Amino acid sequence: MPDASVSPSNAPFHVLITGGSSGIGAALALQYARPGTHLTLWGRNAARLQDVAAQVIRRGASAEILSLDLCRTDDALAALRKADDARQIDILILGAGLGDIRPEGALTETAEQVRDISLVNFTTPATLATEMASRMAARKAGRIALIGSVAAFHDLPVATAYSGSKAGLARFSTALHAAMTPHHVSVTLISPGYVDTPMSQRLEGARPFLVSTRRAARMITRAIGQGRAHLLFPWPFAIARFLEMIVPRAIVHRLLRTAEVKQRPVS
Ligand SMILES: NC(=O)c1ccc[n+]([C@@H]2O[C@H](COP(=O)([O-])OP(=O)(O)OC[C@H]3O[C@@H](n4cnc5c(N)ncnc54)[C@H](OP(=O)(O)O)[C@@H]3O)[C@@H](O)[C@H]2O)c1
Repeated sequence: MPDASVSPSNAPFHVLITGGSSGIGAALALQYARPGTHLTLWGRNAARLQDVAAQVIRRGASAEILSLDLCRTDDALAALRKADDARQIDILILGAGLGDIRPEGALTETAEQVRDISLVNFTTPATLATEMASRMAARKAGRIALIGSVAAFHDLPVATAYSGSKAGLARFSTALHAAMTPHHVSVTLISPGYVDTPMSQRLEGARPFLVSTRRAARMITRAIGQGRAHLLFPWPFAIARFLEMIVPRAIVHRLLRTAEVKQRPVS
């Protein structure tokens, strides 16, 4: 497996990041930005994408942006094929995510919320990872990272679609890791706790063990470079995951139902 920081040919090392317009994805773009690297950044907000691309270029990398909605899975798949045909992708980071919870006072999320969260957090990243895995396996090289969440390991009553979609993504990612390891393609699942981004800043209340985007990006790039199957951080959430597995589910559910979680609207 070639070092993730070194291009196998004279072509620039190509990193494509979904969710590159904000938060963890933008921090990852800056972490990878250096001469000899080409960053392709996807998101919806063109102004924010342009801002991140300008910072990447100031660090000596080249960059291009694409504004698209990942609810449109077929468009995203076509765009990925086009990007890889034009410039072979060395690292694909599927970082975009929707973090909605149920509206205040409602028993559940809305049906439309659940549809969009499922598309952005599971269907589209799993589709893109599959396409890229088969292309990278043919080349016998490449790295894929999927950004899940520690929410995957808990039955969150206020965020059934978020925790459910991230649980699906987690299993998909480790299964794809198992399938791809013999073919020299690494697949890394990233399960963050709270990271200081616009997504977690919308939550009202405490964000325990909060991690900065720079620190998160450093840990994530290291895990991708090492080809690890799973990175979960910060470590107290590993203990929470273990407790969830050993404490009777009815007790866990009663505790989780009492948790007060509120979210400010998207600004
Ligand atoms: N922050 C945390 O505490 C935390 C914890 C655990 C896991 N995560 C995960 O980390 C990942 C990055 O989140 P973040 O915290 O960096 O949040 P963020 O700052 O809100 O960034 C989310 C990114 O996803 C993109 N995105 C959302 N919906 C999209 C759609 N329909 N089509 C295309 N792009 C879309 C956004 O693009 P636009 O801004 O251009 O719309 C943005 O680039 C997510 O998968 C999230 O679930 C975050």
